[in-house]
Amino acid sequence: MSIQADAQQRVAIQHLETERLLGVDFIPLSPSPIMLTESAKAAPDDDAATPQDRLNALRERAESEFPYCKSLAEATRPVFGEGPADARLVFVGEAPGQKEDETGRPFVGAAGQKLDQIIAAMGLARESVYITNILKARPPENRTPTIDEIEASSSYLTEQLHIIQPEVIIALGGPATKFLIKSKDGITRLRGRWSSWEEGGVRIPVMPTFHPAYLLRNYTPEIRKQMWSDVQKVVELIGLKTN
Ligand code: URA
Repeated sequence: MSIQADAQQRVAIQHLETERLLGVDFIPLSPSPIMLTESAKAAPDDDAATPQDRLNALRERAESEFPYCKSLAEATRPVFGEGPADARLVFVGEAPGQKEDETGRPFVGAAGQKLDQIIAAMGLARESVYITNILKARPPENRTPTIDEIEASSSYLTEQLHIIQPEVIIALGGPATKFLIKSKDGITRLRGRWSSWEEGGVRIPVMPTFHPAYLLRNYTPEIRKQMWSDVQKVVELIGLKTN
């Protein structure tokens, strides 16, 4: 490489680095993302079901009980969630959208692509975190889930969290945050402040932040900066270094 091309490349890298540090966009940290799983979790006895077995059994139950209530009957298939049972970080969204309903996978549409960028900017591999929603079936017209729908299908999420017991949960948007931390406040007030999910003797820190779909609709430097600062707090908690 010529001296001039080398200098140009260095300047370009510096620009990217500055933008990343300012949270101006979600720029992948490195070409080799970290697999954030917890192999050190207590190994079950030989005969006991592993967390992965328990998640698989729960998925089968969610499939057999689909669609959970009459108002979700237009959904095509359940969208249970995906990721390893020993994930240290769980993302919780609201409900599957059209693309998720078509594929059976969470966060694969436009909001999912933005979430992928955020995960990469955190330095993580998507396949090493667990991604799911409060609702496991798409509400008609992608509307906000009703209280009845949440009641009919949120027990799967509760059980998923009990099985995985991650170190931290990121709540994406108002409905996920309100459900997890049992608050009536809005996401603008709750985001960026540590809270916790407490259920059946288990307590897991929750970091509420904006939903990626909201971010896409309001793609301003201010909102991006706020979301980046929220996820940075999680990165710090789990002891990852991003700069
Ligand atoms: N929005 C969500 O809340 N969840 C998805 O899986 C996709 C979009």
